[in-house]
Amino acid sequence: MQKFDGKTVLITGGSSGIGLASAQLFQSEGARVAITGRTESSLARTRDLLGPKALIYASDTGKTSEIDILFADLGKRFDGLDILVLNAGIAAPAPLEAITEGAFDELLAVNLKGVFFSLQKALPMLREGSSIIVTTSITNRLGSPNFSVYAACKAALRSLVASLSLELIPRKIRINAVSPGPIATPMFSRLGLPPEISAAIQNEITQKSPCHRFGAPEEVARTILFLSSDESSYIVGQEIVVDGGMSLL
Ligand SMILES: NC(=O)c1ccc[n+]([C@@H]2O[C@H](COP(=O)([O-])OP(=O)(O)OC[C@H]3O[C@@H](n4cnc5c(N)ncnc54)[C@H](OP(=O)(O)O)[C@@H]3O)[C@@H](O)[C@H]2O)c1
Repeated sequence: MQKFDGKTVLITGGSSGIGLASAQLFQSEGARVAITGRTESSLARTRDLLGPKALIYASDTGKTSEIDILFADLGKRFDGLDILVLNAGIAAPAPLEAITEGAFDELLAVNLKGVFFSLQKALPMLREGSSIIVTTSITNRLGSPNFSVYAACKAALRSLVASLSLELIPRKIRINAVSPGPIATPMFSRLGLPPEISAAIQNEITQKSPCHRFGAPEEVARTILFLSSDESSYIVGQEIVVDGGMSLL
């Protein structure tokens, strides 16, 4: 008997990095997994990695129309949801004067609106005893130059988790957050930075980190599985930081 035998899991942003590592770990513990992503190439790779039992959805979490389509289909394939991991996110570093309205709207659509409406649309499927995990970021408490809008979205998620946890606990649904520090995922190569600047930033983070390394996606995934399981049954509306001590500096 595996820990998540018979449990159903949906992971948004499950085609890369932390979400993909979580999907693989849930599968190895017996869960039936559905994931979303946007990019066809990463979805195809994920299909190969997770195999035919996994449900793979191309679904832009920044668009409520696509969230509706996702849950309409998922409802036909799963008779309920035990675990919802709201993990899809994007970052786009820029100083204050360079942030356009379009870039601002996109960051909010994916990192905040998408999380809120995915949760709302998932609610009819969530079983009594289910668990929701939201991926925030240690930037939500730190000053994060050039990541102001991203960090503000993540701070808003921390607040949503606290408020909604009190709304949903009477239904026996728990919501918590996992707050990663620097984790070695493809996110860094997607920041749009020149390779030499990206390498210099990553080197600086490595030097600064109390652990002198980036975290592995699996180290965050293990926390997501803990928050999804009955082992965390009395943890409600909290955020667990997984950052190698970075936010303590
Ligand atoms: N890596 C870090 O250091 C770090 C630190 C703190 C917090 N986080 C947070 O951790 C979460 C996962 O990040 P990661 O590092 O694993 O990044 P990643 O490797 O870039 O993965 C991001 C995932 O989100 C998906 N995604 C992005 N925009 C989407 C959209 N509009 N609709 C649906 N899916 C979308 C991506 O799908 P496609 O591949 O198809 O685009 C991908 O599956 C994010 O919320 C991020 O903010 C990461």
